[in-house]
Amino acid sequence: MLLKKYYDASVSPLMGELEGAVTIMSPATVANVVCGFDVLGFAINNPNDELTLSISNKVGVEIINEDDFNLPTKAEDNVCGAALLALLGETPEIKGFTLISKKHIKPGSGIGSSAASAAGAVFAANELLNKRFTKQDLVRFAMNGEKVASGVKHADNIAPAIYGGVTLIRSIHPIDIIKVNAPELHVTVVHPQIEVRTADARQILKQNVLLKDAIKQWGNIAGLVAGFIHHDYDLIGRSLEDVIIEPVRSILIPGFDEVKTKCKEAGALGGGISGSGPSIFMLSRNAATASIVENVMKEVYNKIGVDFQTHVTTINQEGCKVVNSEK
Ligand code: HSE
Repeated sequence: MLLKKYYDASVSPLMGELEGAVTIMSPATVANVVCGFDVLGFAINNPNDELTLSISNKVGVEIINEDDFNLPTKAEDNVCGAALLALLGETPEIKGFTLISKKHIKPGSGIGSSAASAAGAVFAANELLNKRFTKQDLVRFAMNGEKVASGVKHADNIAPAIYGGVTLIRSIHPIDIIKVNAPELHVTVVHPQIEVRTADARQILKQNVLLKDAIKQWGNIAGLVAGFIHHDYDLIGRSLEDVIIEPVRSILIPGFDEVKTKCKEAGALGGGISGSGPSIFMLSRNAATASIVENVMKEVYNKIGVDFQTHVTTINQEGCKVVNSEK
């Protein structure tokens, strides 16, 4: 139904199973989870991008953007395009895809906009291909999109978008992803309306780490994962500390220290920069606290006069999901 405008089954080069179109939702994600730079991430239930994909008889990936973000439509320069081209490299019987992208996750917000696109595109392709690829394969393809967006392959937004929940990326060469069991957690995100490019936020990081800082950081990562698994909220709270990345990046985010301090005073377990920023996220034990935390964030940004957007949500356990299939 959604696709009739772009998809004409009568010209499909493929008979039988490899036909049709699928519409999927792909979630926003919080990467790093404070201490786990490039190795931890979780998906959230709101916002989501919507992508519709069909198999095409034209070579390559045709991209149709149905939003106002003016993203590139040339496949090689587009995160969905780059991810789908990688997948097409391993599906020789298919010439190409047509993708309709409706983004609700603002690019440059720090809540995994590029990953939602790249992960969503290959997840949709895999649905059309009767799930021939594993989730690990999808992460591998989608990381090509992250390379377009930030110059580097990293999977801490891609993996939670595909697997759902909290994910630990133990390694990307080879891909080794562990889904971490976590208790119910409420997530409040504030997105001050400034843009921080991930490539820039990576460029300013120091290339060397003091051993004493590394010791603190790996203690916190292990503590956070243990806290999730044991549903130990206090351990989660005291492990949400980053002595390596946050001190450098937080200077790019107006109001960061005040938001963090006041949200914790208001009852949040803890939080910090979401991905490479500028969004800040906080975790809370219940919806009432998450909503108080939202008000604290609003007060800070109203006071300093920076426009912002907030999201009060929960951890998304499912990841990308099909919302309409015309296979
Ligand atoms: N781990 C990445 C970074 C996430 O912090 O650069 C980007 O969203």
